[in-house]
Amino acid sequence: MLPRCAVRVCHVLVLVLCLSAAEDFDWTKNDRGSFYYGTFPAGFSWGAGSSAYQTEGAWDKDGKGLSIWDVFTHKKGKVQRNETGDSSCEGYYKIKDDISLMKELKLNHYRFSISWPRIIPTGIKSDHVNEKGIQYYDNLIDHLLESKITPIVTLYHWDLPQVLQEKYGGWQNISMVNHFNDFANLCFERFGNRVKYWITFNNPWSVAVEGYETGEHAPGLKLRGTGAYRAAHHMIKAHAKVWHTYDTQWRAKQKGLIGISLSGDWGEPVDIGNQKDIEAAERYVQFYLGWFATPVFHGDYPQVMKDFIGRKSGQQGLGTSRLPTFSSQEKSYIKGTCDFLGIGHFTTRYITQKNYPVGRSGSSYFTDRDLAELVDPRWPDPGSEWLYSVPWGFRRLLNFVKTQYGNPMIYVTENGVSEKMLCTELCDDWRIQYYKDYINEMLKAIKDGVNVRGYTAWSLLDKFEWDEGYSERFGLYYVDFRNKNKPRYPKASVQYYKRIISSNGFPNQREVENWRKKAIETCSSSNQLLAAARRKSKEHAEMPKVWPVHDEV
Ligand code: NOJ
Repeated sequence: MLPRCAVRVCHVLVLVLCLSAAEDFDWTKNDRGSFYYGTFPAGFSWGAGSSAYQTEGAWDKDGKGLSIWDVFTHKKGKVQRNETGDSSCEGYYKIKDDISLMKELKLNHYRFSISWPRIIPTGIKSDHVNEKGIQYYDNLIDHLLESKITPIVTLYHWDLPQVLQEKYGGWQNISMVNHFNDFANLCFERFGNRVKYWITFNNPWSVAVEGYETGEHAPGLKLRGTGAYRAAHHMIKAHAKVWHTYDTQWRAKQKGLIGISLSGDWGEPVDIGNQKDIEAAERYVQFYLGWFATPVFHGDYPQVMKDFIGRKSGQQGLGTSRLPTFSSQEKSYIKGTCDFLGIGHFTTRYITQKNYPVGRSGSSYFTDRDLAELVDPRWPDPGSEWLYSVPWGFRRLLNFVKTQYGNPMIYVTENGVSEKMLCTELCDDWRIQYYKDYINEMLKAIKDGVNVRGYTAWSLLDKFEWDEGYSERFGLYYVDFRNKNKPRYPKASVQYYKRIISSNGFPNQREVENWRKKAIETCSSSNQLLAAARRKSKEHAEMPKVWPVHDEV
């Protein structure tokens, strides 16, 4: 997600909102206010998600190798309160428990990721394949299928094997393409008879920018102005190679689909009457979603990225652009490597033009864009600092995907909202509101003609939130991390999401309002349960430590 420094700017924006309901999406006159009652197309898939490092725990069990996140979190000062994902939700030991939560919600699909070093400890397939790791994912997949829940499997949710980082520099190095392809091929071979939805990369933007440019994420490198572009270049090539591997070697037999999951905030011009703001907002989205989506759908980077980064590189006196280039063979190889597009979306920014002349300190990904990000302080902001609830931005982003990339099949792979750790409130009214409004905007987008096939609430459980540690909770289910058994408790949003799923949308106002009331009623009893469990574990902790005395035999 966005680095904190980038979102601190906060301006009050007074905007006149034009309200109209149009069949064809109208970019200037969008309906931002009224709620739309209606249902989703038959067969629409409802799900929830997780990722390996964020939930599994068992970081060093059963032959798993180290990932860059294991190493990063074990260094002091990288994560809030120096927390780690060592045990996290202990998901590795709780397949059955967690699937019963999914059944409670009546989910159609569950999105999870495979930890590369759990099944190939060094990341290099010829070194060793860890059968115990394979066994874990076999069990998870089998139990999901027995429960009629479709697995949607991400191959890379950020946990690169540490050996590949140390030996080659991770995604800075082109050799990752082949190593990743070997890993993916192994997954198709071992799980592809049962898994029909594959996602190569989750949110490569974050890997590139936060892993290699700002260093807020593992591997923590600060290669300003070059690292992110190079990492992205190699991930795009790796994605394309894996898509081709699936397409040529497995598709005919396994009959699955393979896509990529991209994240994108929406960028809205501050002043829709100002051409410079309109162009800046377009640039914001092109440097974010377009950076990856344009190669995958059209074969090359967005023209605006090539222009801006190329010009600034020239001004710095560099002979070539800091943005790498694809050869013409590469362009045609990469173009069209996406059976469905995964979209992870959480928030929106207002954007205005701002020049960043190339100074002595050079350029970065952020200054290359020549824009400033603003937020409206009236937007609800219940949890993560960067996450403002702006539902109408979701509809706009989905329509952008439709028009820019030829109306591809979309699965929303992440959408949700967090709360701060200190809040142990299970009655999460604000999350209910967020889901209700965002899902409604997705419904409007489908009415606009956007081809959205499924929705994944992020996330099933509270979990390790990267550099924020456990301080931000995205879960539908609360996890008591202080208890070593990591018990799960339903938040009110579980009840609410469950109703949306069972009605496949929003049937009518009376019913939908009733859902909220009911959800809030039931969560107060869960609150009491949690409070009682807390009291009990506190009493336990306060008891003097006495051990039974055994007579030595
Ligand atoms: C996107 C990441 O893919 C996910 O792992 C994270 O939990 C969410 N953003 C929320 O920050």
